Amino acid sequence: MLQINNLTVEIDNKKILDNFNIDIKPNTIHVIMGPNGVGKSTLSKVIMGDKNYNILSGKIIFNNEEINLIPTYERARKGIFLCFQNPVEIEGVSNNEMIRTALNSKLDKHVGIYDFIKQIEKSSKEVKLTDEMLKRGVNVGFSGGEKKKNEVLQLKILKPKLIILDEIDSGLDVDSLKVVGENIMQYYNEEDNVSILIITHYPRILNYLKPDYVHVMKGGKLVKTGDITLAYDIEKLGYDRVDIIESIDKNE
Ligand SMILES: Nc1ncnc2c1ncn2[C@@H]1O[C@H](COP(=O)(O)OP(=O)(O)OP(=O)(O)O)[C@@H](O)[C@H]1O
Ligand SMILES: [Mg+2]
Repeated sequence: MLQINNLTVEIDNKKILDNFNIDIKPNTIHVIMGPNGVGKSTLSKVIMGDKNYNILSGKIIFNNEEINLIPTYERARKGIFLCFQNPVEIEGVSNNEMIRTALNSKLDKHVGIYDFIKQIEKSSKEVKLTDEMLKRGVNVGFSGGEKKKNEVLQLKILKPKLIILDEIDSGLDVDSLKVVGENIMQYYNEEDNVSILIITHYPRILNYLKPDYVHVMKGGKLVKTGDITLAYDIEKLGYDRVDIIESIDKNE
């Protein structure tokens, strides 16, 4: 579904991604973990087509088509969706209107207001957001957790194929984490050919979203791949000790 080949990206003459590679097949869940500032959010924004980042070389291929030069809205239409690490507040545009406009644009048709309201009221209940929050400006005055739930609400309505979750778990209390995790997992199980790329620092969201692969990112690329046990090892030992213990294991 998503292949990234030898991608090198810089911002302000600083190289952030350096020969980065990943291959995400349909119906798989990948996790990327890595210390602060290694470029995880940069990766997610580059996949989405953020123009602030300069691609020096390499290819981003989505469903067998190179998308390096395609604008963000086209990538979204093709089914790529990013849940932001820090969702922005947009004063003056209601949440309802923003999601309906996005849906119309994605489907390239006018969705009837009655059908839309029915759909969004059902989905917002599932993620535990109130009707009042749908009428407010996008994320305006939302708590950290409510913003994350709002990202999941958008996802449920827009029905993407590749979901990138950039620290969806940060700032969520245990109950909210459950709501968010279960809603995304339910979507993943119900829809065909959906894949998820989870960026996180902690394995707790993986109690709900069971990954097929866990990768460690360092120096602008993925340096290690394992299964969910790698995520637990990192939590227990930290990045440096995971490396040391692995090298001891290999020498034994
Ligand atoms: N717009 C920008 N201008 C200058 N530097 C930037 C910009 N965006 C990212 N960087 C730098 O790129 C590096 C990678 O940032 P990024 O946000 O991708 O890290 P991250 O792995 O997501 O970290 P965290 O785990 O803290 O979220 C950082 O050193 C950051 O300061
Ligand atoms: Mg980040």
